[in-house]
Amino acid sequence: MSDVHPIPREFIGSGPLSGTVKVPGDKSISHRSLMFSALAVGHSQVSGLLEGEDVLSTAAALRAMGARIERGDDGIWHIDGVGVGSLLQPTTPLDMGNSGTSARLLMGLVASHAIDTIFIGDDSLSKRPMGRVSVPLSQIGAQFSGTNGDYLPMTVKGVIGAAPIQYRLPIASAQVKSAMMLAALNISGVSEIIEPIATRDHSERMLRGFGADLKVEQDEDGTRHIFVRGEAELKPQNIDVPGDPSSAAFPVVAALITPGSEVRVTNVGMNPTRTGIYKMLIEMGADLTFVNEREVGGEPVADIIAKYSSLSGIDVPPEIAPSMIDEFPIFFVAASMAKGRTMTSGLDELRVKESDRLALMAAGLAAIGARVKEVEDGLIIDGSDGEALAGGAMINSALDHRIAMSFAVAGQNCLNPVAVDDISPIATSFPTFEKMMEELANG
Ligand code: S3P
Repeated sequence: MSDVHPIPREFIGSGPLSGTVKVPGDKSISHRSLMFSALAVGHSQVSGLLEGEDVLSTAAALRAMGARIERGDDGIWHIDGVGVGSLLQPTTPLDMGNSGTSARLLMGLVASHAIDTIFIGDDSLSKRPMGRVSVPLSQIGAQFSGTNGDYLPMTVKGVIGAAPIQYRLPIASAQVKSAMMLAALNISGVSEIIEPIATRDHSERMLRGFGADLKVEQDEDGTRHIFVRGEAELKPQNIDVPGDPSSAAFPVVAALITPGSEVRVTNVGMNPTRTGIYKMLIEMGADLTFVNEREVGGEPVADIIAKYSSLSGIDVPPEIAPSMIDEFPIFFVAASMAKGRTMTSGLDELRVKESDRLALMAAGLAAIGARVKEVEDGLIIDGSDGEALAGGAMINSALDHRIAMSFAVAGQNCLNPVAVDDISPIATSFPTFEKMMEELANG
């Protein structure tokens, strides 16, 4: 487990980065591909699955509830689903590791099944709020009993025969939306989930692909109404998972801040609910080109070419936050080396991710010599105008993969090495990160 054996590592640039790399499969799509396949009747196949610890936690939990999930020697995953309504009672607690997505989506899934489950997780996950799913799921009659209120370990007693859900999301969260949709799959009738601010729509796209009866209507103000007909009969699918745009942001920003660099990242998911980081980087003056645009498994995909760029600070509109929610740590790194001021706001959600990402990024960036001010809901950063930062500090990554990777990238443009206290959590989402950075350094 990542919190048992910390692996410290130092990062420093060694010249321009160049080459063509592929990032692992999209984390959100990987989780969903396993969950929906486990709920289909019959045999599904998934290629390009992210084989990171988070997704493997989802796989283990689904196996414990009756699905057969195996990896072929060719890297293709084979899933024999049990069918909606037929999950088995697990005999041991479901270990979610570091993965909020596994915990919250699976809670939705088990809430409308006649099984009792116990959810456990690592130190980071055990500090993250589960009330955002347990409170609305309690309304269908499922019973939740958490530790100190709404934290893991948490037991869930599922319920069958609930009335259809009608739920308006109080926060912009694809995890909460998807948890409610997963619960709705085993509730007779049509449930409605109302999303005032659009978040990633992988669940909607993929469930349609699995043959679910799902409709989305959009009001003039952008509010989305998602209608899901329950007691769904999902048909097995072959899924090709595109590369993760969140992971691709690391080599892209590394190229943008490292003089002389040119990097191509292939096969990156370009779903518009995920690409806010690229829009904002382009607004800062980033030289990004998107080529080979195509559609893979119902998701837009492209290759990204990123060249070293002179970046300028910008005001990031809070409305764009849901489409780049996981990319703020690496975005803050880019801002700390841009010319002028970057302002961010409306980022309260960053305080309840794998760590408090506003506090940790502010502390880490200040420690390596960036000019940064933490406010309640964002960071205000005065960039170095392309100058290398001092570096020479030890970063507390607090079991947060994206904090660790962000500072590994920051080290590319620092005068002294940036030490990250523990890089082991990187394996949750990007097991090949270190190897990829070495490849880019060696051209
Ligand atoms: C995810 C949704 C996001 C994101 C997380 C993955 C998903 O969380 O931060 O890494 O797969 O649905 P929220 O929906 O809670 O913002």
